[in-house]
Amino acid sequence: MLLKEIGQYWDTRAEGYSISVNSQLAGDAAKHYQELLRQAKPAGEQLCCLDIGCGPGFFSILLARDGHQVTALDYSREMLKRAEANFAAAGVHPTVLVGDAQNLPFADNSFDMLVSRDLVWNLEQPVRAYSEWLRVLKPGGRVFVSDGNYYLHYYHPDYKRARELLRRGSHSCYGVDPTPINDMARDLPLSRQLRPDWDVRILTGLGFQNIQTRIHYRDYKDPDTGETRKLGSHFVLWGEKCSRGCESAE
Ligand SMILES: C[S@@+](CC[C@H](N)C(=O)[O-])C[C@H]1O[C@@H](n2cnc3c(N)ncnc32)[C@H](O)[C@@H]1O
Repeated sequence: MLLKEIGQYWDTRAEGYSISVNSQLAGDAAKHYQELLRQAKPAGEQLCCLDIGCGPGFFSILLARDGHQVTALDYSREMLKRAEANFAAAGVHPTVLVGDAQNLPFADNSFDMLVSRDLVWNLEQPVRAYSEWLRVLKPGGRVFVSDGNYYLHYYHPDYKRARELLRRGSHSCYGVDPTPINDMARDLPLSRQLRPDWDVRILTGLGFQNIQTRIHYRDYKDPDTGETRKLGSHFVLWGEKCSRGCESAE
């Protein structure tokens, strides 16, 4: 099990991540995600929302600003300390909780909406996580996931070559060495899966419906054939937990 090591790694990233989240909150990223969250949410005001792997609280703050009741859950205590400071600065009041996305400390049918950004790639048991998320969602509730094919270059030849060709400077980790997570990612199951295809297949199999995706592609020109291909890099998706009787209505 890598969970403890993963949590310790994210503890080291909390300060830098919080700086980055604060600049996103002040810029276009906040507007972009706020629009998507509004589009994806179920009907109703003051929804009961869970931000899973909340980090320093980006999605929690966006949802709280829209008047929703938010629980912010993360495995890293240092991330949660940053989240609490950011909530105070933003004048919002999510409930903060330490917990594992794959084993949620909530009763069945507790939430109207579950949100998560850049967490799922990082899980050892992502199918278990999604089935937990289904369990704690109310019927008709929605899941919203933002994530990416961040480590597919380890296993997919096109992504490997594209990374070699397109390699820009590595993204800023605010002075923290990312080697531990880069090494752990070799053993994480989603480093081998093309997403969001994988997510759509799993969520559909678990019983989610009306799944929508928005995929950001990067162009990759194959140096041998000259052919340009589009490689999915990051994405958002959302889907709905079947309401009672919806299977028979289809
Ligand atoms: C890349 S950060 C993203 C943080 C935040 N969602 C954002 O977009 O700013 C990944 C977060 O997931 C958390 N995390 C990783 N594994 C987790 C798990 N099993 N359960 C809960 N949180 C987890 C980490 O502690 C970290 O805060």
